[in-house]
Amino acid sequence: MCGIVGILAERPVADLLVDGLRRLEYRGYDSAGVATLVDGVITTRRAVGKLQNLADRLQQEPLPGTVGIGHTRWATHGRPSEDNAHPHFSDRVAVVHNGIIENHRALRAELEAKQHRFKSETDTETIAHLITDYLQQGMTPQAATATALKRLEGAFAIGIIFAGHPNLLIGARRGSPLALGYGDQEMYLGSDALALAPLTNCISYLEEGDWIELTPGKAVVHDANDQVVERKIHQTNLSGAMIGKGQYRHFMLKEIFEQPAVIGDTLASLVTADNKMALPDLPFDWATVPRLTIVACGTAYYAGMVAKYWFEQLAHLPVEVDIASEFRYREAPLPQGGVTLAVSQSGETADTLAAISYAKKQGQKILAVVNVPQSSIARQADAVVPTLAGPEIGVASTKAYTTQLTVLLCLAVAAGVARGKLDAKRAAAILQAVREVPAQLNAVLRDEHKIQELAHHLAEARDVLYLARGALYPLALEGALKLKEISYIHAEGYPAGELKHGPIALIDEFMPVVVLAPHDALFEKTASNVQEVVARGGKVVLFSDAEGQAKIGTKPFWSMALPASDPVVAPLLYAVPVQLLAYYTALAKGTDVDQPRNLAKSVTVE
Ligand code: G6P
Repeated sequence: MCGIVGILAERPVADLLVDGLRRLEYRGYDSAGVATLVDGVITTRRAVGKLQNLADRLQQEPLPGTVGIGHTRWATHGRPSEDNAHPHFSDRVAVVHNGIIENHRALRAELEAKQHRFKSETDTETIAHLITDYLQQGMTPQAATATALKRLEGAFAIGIIFAGHPNLLIGARRGSPLALGYGDQEMYLGSDALALAPLTNCISYLEEGDWIELTPGKAVVHDANDQVVERKIHQTNLSGAMIGKGQYRHFMLKEIFEQPAVIGDTLASLVTADNKMALPDLPFDWATVPRLTIVACGTAYYAGMVAKYWFEQLAHLPVEVDIASEFRYREAPLPQGGVTLAVSQSGETADTLAAISYAKKQGQKILAVVNVPQSSIARQADAVVPTLAGPEIGVASTKAYTTQLTVLLCLAVAAGVARGKLDAKRAAAILQAVREVPAQLNAVLRDEHKIQELAHHLAEARDVLYLARGALYPLALEGALKLKEISYIHAEGYPAGELKHGPIALIDEFMPVVVLAPHDALFEKTASNVQEVVARGGKVVLFSDAEGQAKIGTKPFWSMALPASDPVVAPLLYAVPVQLLAYYTALAKGTDVDQPRNLAKSVTVE
């Protein structure tokens, strides 16, 4: 969602701000803007659409100034237009904001009554006028900001500059993340450390309610009670190169190809070379957990659904898995001694955060599987098991998903052993099967050209159905989601057993039906469904193993043999062809794969 950059330097900052915004493009946006002080006066450049439009604008109308703020906006209040693009400003203050100010209507009415003139429909502009109002009452920028912050309700990360104060940049956070970067006499603000990667690797993360005063070479952090506090400085290992596309055309393709390596890294962080568990200490005993509640959104939710099969089958542990935005309002009773597991790539998804805060209030222990260890979800959890996917830039999640599966399978195995449901031999065999996944995936990736050929057919479809059973059923949902997200083709995932209860009515010769069916205990059942589709002229696209291909009993429109594996790891193995199919279909359709329309990488508002 919205991205923020702020820079206080001794050199012109406009180009540096745009550069920082480029590294935040992946979050999703529909307009962008920057503001600096030119001879002490707030001056802005804003543009609708891609960042290049803003860069072109700056080329035509350069913006000097050594202090500035920049923003990529994902529209919430007010359509994407230049007037609604950030920064929002008065003659004294310019503000960039990520989040939502929930009491903006009341504040706006109050400020308009005091003759403050609003130029946009946004909630953000109230922040600029509110601070201005306090400045007009004679307060310093610091006091005006601290006073205004106490009147804001909702979630925000903000960056502020002040007319006539070329050596001051203020930032604040509540609910949305904000990182602070230390340079040599330069100071930076960014929505995440990635935005600041080429500028510095010395980063502090603001805590809930913090606000920060940046002057040349100095940062003073205040907590929610305006007390000066210290925040730890971290050395990040992000480099500009790590977040480049390398030889790949898109981040998504690069990230698909990184999966063998990052699954291997994640496994190595949890399991020793001789297949012994080396999980972090957990603040509960799996043996006595009465129920596990998994909460997540989007692709992470589908990883949670797969985990439900694993925890139930391997550990006989009852699992409830819920979409965080539903769970947070459902008032679900949670058992004493229960554990809530949050799965999230970014660790900043607003609904997932709210879901764990509900679960905490119900006395649950919170376990988080996140890809960003400093994220809000990680900090609110009682224990964290990180995925080691590295920065994921493509909006459509790929390597985060498979590393989440890797962690979740290891947790399920640990739970199975602790609960006496899995003997050491079977546990080691499962971990060995995971260990073999990276090599098997490399073999699948070598066959990507086959999927690319198929994608040209799929690109002509209006609707696509994905079918699977068991732990692969969530992957059918994930496959349909991936296709929708990046190719804009309507797709639905169904448990194959439900075919006859509705979706079979859709089958005709124009409807591709993607079937994920390894030769496992449920294969015969899915093979019958395949025959039902073929009998109605449907085009079956079959992903199976060699044995499954031989025994399918009918000729699919297209099929591909994946390596045979222990059925328990099939959700990992089958994820990659499903991702490639979405990617190449989107490529054939010519859509913007890494930044699909309307989508945000990290959904930090409700
Ligand atoms: C957005 C992204 C998805 C992601 C979901 C949950 O919808 O586009 O790719 O799966 O948010 O995000 P999280 O960071 O919590 O995994």
